[in-house]
Amino acid sequence: MADLKTFYMGYELKNPIILSSCSLSKNIDNLCQAEDSGIAAIVLASLFEEVIKNELGVVSDTFHPEAYEYGVDSSMLSYGATKYIDLVKEAKKRLNIPVFASVNCIDSEVWIDFARSIEDAGADGLELNISYISFQVDDNPRDIEDKYVEIVEKVKNKLNIPISVKLGPYFTSIPNMVKRLKDVGADAVVLLNRYYQMNYDFIEDKYVPINYFSGDKECYNVLRWVGIVSSQLDIDIAATTGFHTAKQIVEALYMGASSVQLATIFYKKGLVYAKELLKEVNEILEKQNCSSIKDIKGKAVDSFEEIKALERVQYMEYLNKASEG
Ligand SMILES: Cc1cc2nc3c(=O)[nH]c(=O)nc-3n(C[C@H](O)[C@H](O)[C@H](O)COP(=O)(O)O)c2cc1C
Repeated sequence: MADLKTFYMGYELKNPIILSSCSLSKNIDNLCQAEDSGIAAIVLASLFEEVIKNELGVVSDTFHPEAYEYGVDSSMLSYGATKYIDLVKEAKKRLNIPVFASVNCIDSEVWIDFARSIEDAGADGLELNISYISFQVDDNPRDIEDKYVEIVEKVKNKLNIPISVKLGPYFTSIPNMVKRLKDVGADAVVLLNRYYQMNYDFIEDKYVPINYFSGDKECYNVLRWVGIVSSQLDIDIAATTGFHTAKQIVEALYMGASSVQLATIFYKKGLVYAKELLKEVNEILEKQNCSSIKDIKGKAVDSFEEIKALERVQYMEYLNKASEG
Protein backbone atom coordinates (compact mmCIF):
# COMPACT_ATOMS: atom_id res chain seq x y z
CA MET A 1 0.00 0.00 0.00
CA ALA A 2 1.54 3.34 -1.05
CA ASP A 3 1.48 6.24 1.36
CA LEU A 4 -0.95 8.73 -0.22
CA LYS A 5 -0.44 11.47 2.37
CA THR A 6 0.11 14.94 1.02
CA PHE A 7 0.11 18.55 2.21
CA TYR A 8 -2.23 21.34 1.23
CA MET A 9 -2.71 24.77 2.80
CA GLY A 10 -0.68 23.78 5.81
CA TYR A 11 -2.68 20.61 6.49
CA GLU A 12 -1.64 17.03 6.09
CA LEU A 13 -4.25 15.34 3.90
CA LYS A 14 -4.63 11.58 3.95
CA ASN A 15 -4.65 11.56 0.14
CA PRO A 16 -4.71 14.12 -2.70
CA ILE A 17 -8.45 13.99 -3.56
CA ILE A 18 -10.48 17.07 -2.60
CA LEU A 19 -14.15 17.63 -3.34
CA SER A 20 -14.14 20.85 -5.34
CA SER A 21 -16.43 23.74 -4.57
CA CYS A 22 -19.75 22.87 -6.27
CA SER A 23 -23.40 22.35 -5.48
CA LEU A 24 -22.63 18.84 -4.14
CA SER A 25 -20.67 20.46 -1.34
CA LYS A 26 -23.52 22.54 0.01
CA ASN A 27 -25.39 19.59 1.46
CA ILE A 28 -24.28 18.06 4.74
CA ASP A 29 -25.27 14.51 3.77
CA ASN A 30 -23.09 14.76 0.68
CA LEU A 31 -20.21 16.05 2.77
CA CYS A 32 -20.50 13.07 5.13
CA GLN A 33 -20.65 10.72 2.15
CA ALA A 34 -17.56 12.39 0.71
CA GLU A 35 -15.64 11.72 3.91
CA ASP A 36 -16.91 8.14 4.12
CA SER A 37 -15.76 7.57 0.53
CA GLY A 38 -12.21 8.57 1.42
CA ILE A 39 -12.14 12.13 0.12
CA ALA A 40 -9.42 13.98 2.04
CA ALA A 41 -10.86 17.50 2.23
CA ILE A 42 -13.80 19.47 0.94
CA VAL A 43 -14.36 22.95 -0.41
CA LEU A 44 -17.87 24.20 0.25
CA ALA A 45 -19.87 25.68 -2.61
CA SER A 46 -19.05 29.36 -3.04
CA LEU A 47 -20.83 32.09 -1.21
CA PHE A 48 -21.15 35.05 -3.54
CA GLU A 49 -19.88 38.45 -2.52
CA GLU A 50 -23.17 39.90 -3.80
CA VAL A 51 -25.13 37.71 -1.38
CA ILE A 52 -23.06 38.90 1.58
CA LYS A 53 -23.48 42.53 0.52
CA ASN A 54 -27.18 42.01 0.07
CA GLU A 55 -27.58 40.58 3.58
CA LEU A 56 -25.59 43.50 4.95
CA GLY A 57 -27.96 45.87 3.15
CA VAL A 58 -25.39 47.08 0.62
CA VAL A 59 -26.75 47.45 -2.90
CA SER A 60 -24.36 46.03 -5.46
CA ASP A 61 -24.40 47.48 -8.94
CA THR A 62 -21.65 45.27 -10.29
CA PHE A 63 -22.43 42.85 -13.04
CA HIS A 64 -21.06 39.51 -12.09
CA PRO A 65 -20.89 37.00 -14.93
CA GLU A 66 -20.42 33.95 -12.74
CA ALA A 67 -23.16 34.95 -10.33
CA TYR A 68 -25.48 35.03 -13.29
CA GLU A 69 -24.30 31.71 -14.61
CA TYR A 70 -24.43 29.91 -11.28
CA GLY A 71 -27.79 31.58 -10.77
CA VAL A 72 -29.03 29.44 -13.63
CA ASP A 73 -28.26 26.53 -11.34
CA SER A 74 -31.31 27.79 -9.48
CA SER A 75 -30.58 27.01 -5.86
CA MET A 76 -27.21 28.74 -5.95
CA LEU A 77 -28.32 32.26 -5.28
CA SER A 78 -30.71 31.26 -2.52
CA TYR A 79 -27.65 30.34 -0.52
CA GLY A 80 -27.68 33.08 2.09
CA ALA A 81 -24.72 34.24 4.16
CA THR A 82 -26.30 33.16 7.45
CA LYS A 83 -27.08 29.71 6.08
CA TYR A 84 -23.51 29.50 4.90
CA ILE A 85 -22.16 30.04 8.39
CA ASP A 86 -24.52 27.32 9.65
CA LEU A 87 -23.19 24.95 7.00
CA VAL A 88 -19.58 25.64 7.98
CA LYS A 89 -20.42 24.97 11.64
CA GLU A 90 -22.36 21.79 10.85
CA ALA A 91 -19.60 20.50 8.55
CA LYS A 92 -16.98 21.13 11.21
CA LYS A 93 -19.10 19.32 13.79
CA ARG A 94 -19.73 16.27 11.62
CA LEU A 95 -16.47 15.85 9.67
CA ASN A 96 -12.90 15.07 10.63
CA ILE A 97 -11.37 16.12 7.32
CA PRO A 98 -10.46 19.77 6.61
CA VAL A 99 -13.37 21.95 5.53
CA PHE A 100 -12.52 24.94 3.37
CA ALA A 101 -15.03 27.71 2.75
CA SER A 102 -15.20 29.48 -0.60
CA VAL A 103 -16.13 33.02 -1.53
CA ASN A 104 -16.66 34.11 -5.10
CA CYS A 105 -15.67 37.76 -5.24
CA ILE A 106 -14.73 40.59 -7.54
CA ASP A 107 -13.64 43.25 -5.11
CA SER A 108 -12.41 43.79 -1.60
CA GLU A 109 -15.16 46.03 -0.22
CA VAL A 110 -17.59 45.15 2.58
CA TRP A 111 -17.60 41.37 2.32
CA ILE A 112 -14.14 40.94 3.82
CA ASP A 113 -15.44 41.94 7.26
CA PHE A 114 -17.94 39.12 6.94
CA ALA A 115 -15.13 36.68 6.14
CA ARG A 116 -14.24 36.89 9.82
CA SER A 117 -17.51 35.06 10.61
CA ILE A 118 -16.45 32.26 8.29
CA GLU A 119 -13.23 31.90 10.26
CA ASP A 120 -15.10 32.11 13.58
CA ALA A 121 -17.47 29.37 12.38
CA GLY A 122 -14.45 27.08 12.25
CA ALA A 123 -13.52 26.88 8.55
CA ASP A 124 -10.03 25.44 8.17
CA GLY A 125 -9.24 27.77 5.30
CA LEU A 126 -10.82 30.08 2.75
CA GLU A 127 -10.67 29.61 -0.99
CA LEU A 128 -11.10 32.84 -2.93
CA ASN A 129 -12.66 32.37 -6.31
CA ILE A 130 -11.74 35.80 -7.63
CA SER A 131 -13.63 36.28 -10.86
CA TYR A 132 -12.70 39.77 -11.85
CA ILE A 133 -12.47 39.41 -15.58
CA SER A 134 -11.56 42.05 -18.12
CA PHE A 135 -14.40 42.92 -20.50
CA GLN A 136 -13.59 46.41 -21.64
CA VAL A 137 -11.18 47.59 -24.28
CA ASP A 138 -9.70 50.23 -21.98
CA ASP A 139 -8.98 47.80 -19.15
CA ASN A 140 -5.32 47.83 -18.27
CA PRO A 141 -4.24 44.23 -17.58
CA ARG A 142 -1.96 45.34 -14.76
CA ASP A 143 -4.90 47.02 -12.99
CA ILE A 144 -6.86 43.77 -13.17
CA GLU A 145 -3.95 41.85 -11.69
CA ASP A 146 -3.49 44.50 -8.99
CA LYS A 147 -7.10 43.93 -7.98
CA TYR A 148 -6.41 40.23 -7.33
CA VAL A 149 -3.36 41.13 -5.27
CA GLU A 150 -5.28 43.77 -3.31
CA ILE A 151 -8.10 41.34 -2.45
CA VAL A 152 -5.71 38.66 -1.23
CA GLU A 153 -3.64 41.13 0.76
CA LYS A 154 -6.72 42.53 2.50
CA VAL A 155 -8.17 39.09 3.29
CA LYS A 156 -4.80 37.93 4.61
CA ASN A 157 -4.68 40.95 6.92
CA LYS A 158 -8.14 40.16 8.28
CA LEU A 159 -7.96 36.40 8.75
CA ASN A 160 -5.70 33.93 10.49
CA ILE A 161 -6.76 30.83 8.55
CA PRO A 162 -4.90 29.89 5.34
CA ILE A 163 -6.07 31.38 2.07
CA SER A 164 -6.05 29.81 -1.38
CA VAL A 165 -6.85 31.53 -4.65
CA LYS A 166 -8.69 29.81 -7.46
CA LEU A 167 -7.49 31.31 -10.71
CA GLY A 168 -8.94 31.13 -14.18
CA PRO A 169 -6.82 30.79 -17.32
CA TYR A 170 -7.24 34.36 -18.57
CA PHE A 171 -3.95 35.94 -17.57
CA THR A 172 -1.09 37.04 -19.76
CA SER A 173 1.27 35.46 -17.26
CA ILE A 174 -0.17 32.86 -14.92
CA PRO A 175 3.23 32.27 -13.22
CA ASN A 176 3.72 35.97 -12.49
CA MET A 177 0.17 36.26 -11.14
CA VAL A 178 0.77 33.32 -8.80
CA LYS A 179 4.10 34.80 -7.68
CA ARG A 180 2.46 38.11 -6.81
CA LEU A 181 -0.30 36.33 -4.85
CA LYS A 182 2.25 34.24 -2.99
CA ASP A 183 4.22 37.39 -2.16
CA VAL A 184 1.19 38.89 -0.39
CA GLY A 185 0.59 35.70 1.56
CA ALA A 186 -1.57 33.31 -0.50
CA ASP A 187 -1.00 29.85 0.99
CA ALA A 188 -2.09 27.91 -2.08
CA VAL A 189 -3.49 28.27 -5.57
CA VAL A 190 -6.14 26.27 -7.37
CA LEU A 191 -5.32 25.97 -11.08
CA LEU A 192 -7.35 26.44 -13.23
CA ASN A 193 -10.89 27.55 -12.63
CA ARG A 194 -13.40 26.63 -15.30
CA TYR A 195 -15.94 29.28 -16.17
CA TYR A 196 -19.34 28.23 -17.37
CA GLN A 197 -19.91 28.83 -21.02
CA MET A 198 -22.97 30.49 -22.51
CA ASN A 199 -24.23 30.22 -26.04
CA TYR A 200 -26.75 32.27 -27.97
CA ASP A 201 -29.65 30.10 -29.06
CA PHE A 202 -30.92 32.02 -32.11
CA ILE A 203 -34.09 29.93 -32.40
CA GLU A 204 -35.18 30.74 -28.86
CA ASP A 205 -33.49 34.18 -29.03
CA LYS A 206 -31.81 33.78 -25.65
CA TYR A 207 -28.54 32.85 -24.03
CA VAL A 208 -28.36 29.34 -22.65
CA PRO A 209 -25.68 27.70 -20.51
CA ILE A 210 -23.66 24.93 -22.09
CA ASN A 211 -21.15 22.46 -20.72
CA TYR A 212 -21.77 22.51 -17.01
CA PHE A 213 -19.35 19.62 -16.76
CA SER A 214 -15.76 19.34 -17.91
CA GLY A 215 -14.50 17.00 -20.59
CA ASP A 216 -11.71 14.56 -19.77
CA LYS A 217 -9.22 16.27 -22.10
CA GLU A 218 -9.48 19.62 -20.33
CA CYS A 219 -6.93 18.61 -17.71
CA TYR A 220 -4.01 18.75 -20.14
CA ASN A 221 -3.91 22.52 -20.30
CA VAL A 222 -4.10 22.57 -16.51
CA LEU A 223 -1.25 20.05 -16.21
CA ARG A 224 0.93 22.28 -18.36
CA TRP A 225 0.39 25.33 -16.14
CA VAL A 226 0.71 23.35 -12.93
CA GLY A 227 4.11 22.15 -14.16
CA ILE A 228 5.23 25.60 -15.23
CA VAL A 229 4.22 27.18 -11.91
CA SER A 230 5.41 24.39 -9.61
CA SER A 231 8.84 24.28 -11.22
CA GLN A 232 9.45 27.90 -10.21
CA LEU A 233 7.44 28.63 -7.08
CA ASP A 234 7.22 26.92 -3.73
CA ILE A 235 3.47 27.08 -3.17
CA ASP A 236 0.84 24.37 -2.71
CA ILE A 237 -1.13 23.77 -5.89
CA ALA A 238 -4.48 22.03 -6.21
CA ALA A 239 -5.10 21.06 -9.83
CA THR A 240 -8.65 21.35 -11.07
CA THR A 241 -10.66 20.99 -14.29
CA GLY A 242 -10.94 17.85 -16.34
CA PHE A 243 -9.42 15.33 -13.94
CA HIS A 244 -11.60 12.27 -14.43
CA THR A 245 -9.25 9.30 -13.94
CA ALA A 246 -6.71 8.02 -11.43
CA LYS A 247 -4.00 8.28 -14.09
CA GLN A 248 -4.75 11.98 -14.56
CA ILE A 249 -4.61 12.52 -10.79
CA VAL A 250 -1.18 10.87 -10.69
CA GLU A 251 -0.08 13.02 -13.63
CA ALA A 252 -1.03 16.15 -11.67
CA LEU A 253 1.22 14.97 -8.81
CA TYR A 254 4.11 14.35 -11.21
CA MET A 255 3.61 17.93 -12.45
CA GLY A 256 3.95 19.25 -8.91
CA ALA A 257 0.36 19.57 -7.65
CA SER A 258 -0.09 18.42 -4.07
CA SER A 259 -3.81 17.73 -4.51
CA VAL A 260 -6.54 17.56 -7.11
CA GLN A 261 -10.00 19.10 -6.80
CA LEU A 262 -12.76 17.13 -8.49
CA ALA A 263 -16.39 17.98 -9.26
CA THR A 264 -17.60 16.63 -12.63
CA ILE A 265 -16.58 13.02 -12.04
CA PHE A 266 -18.56 12.99 -8.78
CA TYR A 267 -21.67 14.36 -10.49
CA LYS A 268 -21.35 11.62 -13.09
CA LYS A 269 -20.36 8.64 -10.93
CA GLY A 270 -21.34 9.63 -7.40
CA LEU A 271 -19.13 10.62 -4.47
CA VAL A 272 -18.54 6.97 -3.69
CA TYR A 273 -16.42 6.79 -6.87
CA ALA A 274 -13.62 8.36 -4.80
CA LYS A 275 -12.99 4.87 -3.38
CA GLU A 276 -12.33 3.48 -6.84
CA LEU A 277 -10.09 6.42 -7.76
CA LEU A 278 -8.05 5.99 -4.58
CA LYS A 279 -7.67 2.27 -5.18
CA GLU A 280 -6.42 2.94 -8.72
CA VAL A 281 -4.07 5.76 -7.64
CA ASN A 282 -2.55 3.31 -5.18
CA GLU A 283 -2.19 0.62 -7.88
CA ILE A 284 -0.49 3.06 -10.25
CA LEU A 285 1.99 4.16 -7.59
CA GLU A 286 2.78 0.55 -6.70
CA LYS A 287 3.40 -0.24 -10.37
CA GLN A 288 5.76 2.74 -10.49
CA ASN A 289 7.52 1.35 -7.42
CA CYS A 290 6.64 4.48 -5.45
CA SER A 291 6.06 4.07 -1.78
CA SER A 292 4.75 7.58 -1.28
CA ILE A 293 3.58 10.70 -3.07
CA LYS A 294 6.81 12.40 -2.03
CA ASP A 295 8.64 10.13 -4.52
CA ILE A 296 6.78 11.55 -7.52
CA LYS A 297 5.65 15.07 -6.65
CA GLY A 298 7.02 17.47 -9.24
CA LYS A 299 9.22 14.76 -10.77
CA ALA A 300 8.14 15.62 -14.32
CA VAL A 301 9.34 19.19 -13.98
CA ASP A 302 12.67 18.94 -12.24
CA SER A 303 14.20 21.42 -14.60
CA PHE A 304 12.39 24.50 -15.76
CA GLU A 305 14.82 24.88 -18.70
CA GLU A 306 13.71 21.43 -19.83
CA ILE A 307 10.07 22.52 -19.78
CA LYS A 308 10.79 25.57 -21.89
CA ALA A 309 12.71 23.49 -24.43
CA LEU A 310 10.06 20.78 -24.42
CA GLU A 311 7.23 23.26 -25.00
CA ARG A 312 8.96 24.56 -28.14
CA VAL A 313 9.90 21.12 -29.47
CA GLN A 314 6.46 19.70 -28.85
CA TYR A 315 4.88 22.65 -30.60
CA MET A 316 7.13 22.30 -33.66
CA GLU A 317 6.57 18.56 -33.78
CA TYR A 318 2.83 19.07 -33.53
CA LEU A 319 2.88 21.56 -36.41
CA ASN A 320 4.98 19.17 -38.52
CA LYS A 321 2.59 16.30 -37.87
CA ALA A 322 -0.43 18.49 -38.61
CA SER A 323 1.06 19.65 -41.92
CA GLU A 324 1.81 16.03 -42.91
CA GLY A 325 -1.92 15.47 -42.48
C1 LIG B 1 -22.60 22.39 -10.85
C2 LIG B 1 -21.28 23.04 -10.52
C3 LIG B 1 -21.26 24.04 -9.56
C4 LIG B 1 -20.05 24.69 -9.27
N1 LIG B 1 -20.03 25.65 -8.32
C5 LIG B 1 -18.85 26.24 -7.99
C6 LIG B 1 -18.78 27.18 -6.94
O1 LIG B 1 -19.75 27.49 -6.25
N2 LIG B 1 -17.57 27.75 -6.69
C7 LIG B 1 -16.44 27.43 -7.37
O2 LIG B 1 -15.36 27.96 -7.07
N3 LIG B 1 -16.47 26.52 -8.36
C8 LIG B 1 -17.63 25.93 -8.69
N4 LIG B 1 -17.66 24.97 -9.67
C9 LIG B 1 -16.40 24.64 -10.37
C10 LIG B 1 -15.73 23.42 -9.73
O3 LIG B 1 -15.31 23.68 -8.41
C11 LIG B 1 -14.48 22.95 -10.52
O4 LIG B 1 -13.45 23.91 -10.39
C12 LIG B 1 -14.77 22.76 -12.00
O5 LIG B 1 -16.01 22.11 -12.20
C13 LIG B 1 -13.67 21.95 -12.65
O6 LIG B 1 -13.52 20.69 -12.05
P1 LIG B 1 -14.13 19.36 -12.75
O7 LIG B 1 -13.51 19.24 -14.07
O8 LIG B 1 -13.77 18.23 -11.83
O9 LIG B 1 -15.61 19.57 -12.83
C14 LIG B 1 -18.85 24.31 -9.96
C15 LIG B 1 -18.90 23.28 -10.89
C16 LIG B 1 -20.08 22.64 -11.17
C17 LIG B 1 -20.07 21.53 -12.19
